[in-house]
Amino acid sequence: MSDTQTNSKGCVLVTGGAGFIGSHTVVELLEAGYQAVVVDDLSNASAVALERVAAIVGKKNAERLHFYEANLLDREALDHIFTSHAIDCVIHFAGYKAVGESVSKPIEYYHNNLGSTLALVDVMRAHECKSIIFSSSSTVYGDPDEPPVTELSPKKMVTNPYGWTKWMIEQILTDIYSSDPAWNVVLLRYFNPIGAHPSGLIGEDPKGIPNNLVPYVAQVAVGKLEAVQVFGNDYPTPDGTGVRDYIHVVDLAQGHLAALNWMHGKTGVEIFNLGTGTGSSVLEVIHAFEAAAGKPIPYVIRERRAGDIAANWCDASKAEQMLGWKARFDITDMCRDSWAWQSANPNGFEDAQ
Ligand code: UFG
Repeated sequence: MSDTQTNSKGCVLVTGGAGFIGSHTVVELLEAGYQAVVVDDLSNASAVALERVAAIVGKKNAERLHFYEANLLDREALDHIFTSHAIDCVIHFAGYKAVGESVSKPIEYYHNNLGSTLALVDVMRAHECKSIIFSSSSTVYGDPDEPPVTELSPKKMVTNPYGWTKWMIEQILTDIYSSDPAWNVVLLRYFNPIGAHPSGLIGEDPKGIPNNLVPYVAQVAVGKLEAVQVFGNDYPTPDGTGVRDYIHVVDLAQGHLAALNWMHGKTGVEIFNLGTGTGSSVLEVIHAFEAAAGKPIPYVIRERRAGDIAANWCDASKAEQMLGWKARFDITDMCRDSWAWQSANPNGFEDAQ
């Protein structure tokens, strides 16, 4: 990493850095001594998140945070950012991410997620910055034969355009490395990120009715929604409800830091699963949240949701062996921190505006 005049460990461009996982990762970067240059168009995020990040890390660390409100498809804006900062590595979070919406808006999803990644890597190449960590997803494993999945498990057919954009961007970055072995590509496949920073200052702030389980449960707990809809209780799992590998967003953010420190000076393409290695069912999550919130959470059983799989969790041993990273928080911690965030900010960042 080049040490800039600012005496930092290195300079990282974080695309989508005002979003849920991005903002938590920026906290870790700043606390570890990196410069964090955030580019976010705020289409699904709030600038308040970055003010809160600054409050969490303190004045001194926050001096290394820079923010540009721009869309990655704006090549000139990107070029300006690379000209203004000696960027060593990019962590690429930005993208549309709603599974259901992607089915009804495939053109928008492919255009935005693929187009912005292509613009980004083109500008990176022009500025001789060839290190990238990509925010991928366990969705690339499709319906796995038998969990846990390892990084060697086959990539399979995905059931929605959002998932295909993750699948394709992994391939694009791999092809770029094949064309130029100076590139350094890390693909991080997240399982189900939930939780929030323990300060309760930043967390997930979905627009409208949440699509994902835990934000939905949190809004029922806070009284904004009536009852959780459990999508299916006839899966071949211990209690019949879907099983996922939920991971605390702070663990996930620290996984990015571990990958960043590990990849320094290397070239190649490396894939890591980031999960806990343990699955929890929908009912287990609801009960853990009830314990965290100290109140019952009503739920009703509904039909299975189209495109859902029964169970998926990961083998996270590669990340432990190579990155020295391991998830520390369990489902109780995740629900406690989600609840702290949701109860203090029932309307998300809107409450601060
Ligand atoms: N579920 C409910 N009720 C809800 C929402 C979800 O019962 O209101 C269930 C689902 O059926 C599933 C589990 O809760 O069994 C988790 O569902 P989520 O929507 O929270 O998460 P998914 O596993 O479906 O999706 C997540 C990410 C996607 C990613 C996918 C695969 O949100 O971005 O994992 O990696 F593509």
